[in-house]
Amino acid sequence: MGFLEGQVVVVTGGARGQGRSHAVAAAREGADVVLLDRCADVPSIRYPQAVESDLRETEAVVREHGVQALGIICDVGDRDQTTAAFDDVHDRFGRIDVLIANAGVYGGGSIQDADADVWDEVIGSNLTGVFHCMRAASPRMIAQGYGRIVVTASNQGRTAVPGSVPYVASKWGAIGLVKAAAHDLAPFGVTVNGVAPGNTSTKMVHNETLYRAMRPDLPNPCWDDVEPALRVHHVQPIALLEPSEITAAVMFLIGPGTPHVTGSIIDVNAGTAARTTA
Ligand SMILES: NC(=O)c1ccc[n+]([C@@H]2O[C@H](COP(=O)([O-])OP(=O)(O)OC[C@H]3O[C@@H](n4cnc5c(N)ncnc54)[C@H](O)[C@@H]3O)[C@@H](O)[C@H]2O)c1
Repeated sequence: MGFLEGQVVVVTGGARGQGRSHAVAAAREGADVVLLDRCADVPSIRYPQAVESDLRETEAVVREHGVQALGIICDVGDRDQTTAAFDDVHDRFGRIDVLIANAGVYGGGSIQDADADVWDEVIGSNLTGVFHCMRAASPRMIAQGYGRIVVTASNQGRTAVPGSVPYVASKWGAIGLVKAAAHDLAPFGVTVNGVAPGNTSTKMVHNETLYRAMRPDLPNPCWDDVEPALRVHHVQPIALLEPSEITAAVMFLIGPGTPHVTGSIIDVNAGTAARTTA
């Protein structure tokens, strides 16, 4: 029996990337899995977001493990959509044991010329979106006397880098939210933690917009052109982590061995933690 047998796990941003990896790992441990994803591009974010076929593909891979999968198109930045989605999940499954608040977008900009639309979208998805999900899930978890919440922060929620004001602010905010909510939910058997990934091999990194931003000197930059610059973000000599490495930390936090780990952030960032945190 897997350690999540009988549990309902909600993964936001579950259509692809790290969210898909977390969803499949939860299914492997016996959980029924709900995937929330917007599955739509937004004008202020200049790389492609997931599409509905990605969501359906993740559902199918989850079901291969003999558990239920439910994909819901939902913008977690929209309070009404998010509330309705969690109501729907609770009506269908009768419980919500685990929330993996992973959905997020990357949008940068320096403070002196940051685009207000990028700010609104990045804060809306990465911070307010996490709030909406935690706000909807936590009363159910309190009523059950059990819950596990894991928020995906970032390296950039542990330190700051130039030209990344919206994203850095959103991820520092998400860590603040984890710590504040950990206090509030501690009496009720609900833990709240975060993971802070370094550069991870997903479409948030593998896209033309990021390549061009990193190498404006080249007409058509490719992976080999940006790899050295990504490598220097880490202390270990690698440019990218695999999503499965972030999943390992998430599974630790929702597993049976960590009922008294709450308010913590696990850095999975190839050693950047050695530079930034005490
Ligand atoms: N890839 C990296 O290098 C990296 C590093 C640190 C942290 N992160 C964080 O990891 C998380 C997962 O990102 P990823 O790397 O898998 O990238 P990704 O772009 O492949 O996945 C993000 C998913 O979130 C969905 N999404 C975005 N905004 C949404 C919204 N408002 N509502 C619902 N769904 C939404 C997208 O459609 C997509 O499926 C994000 O929070 C990201 O900020 C990524």
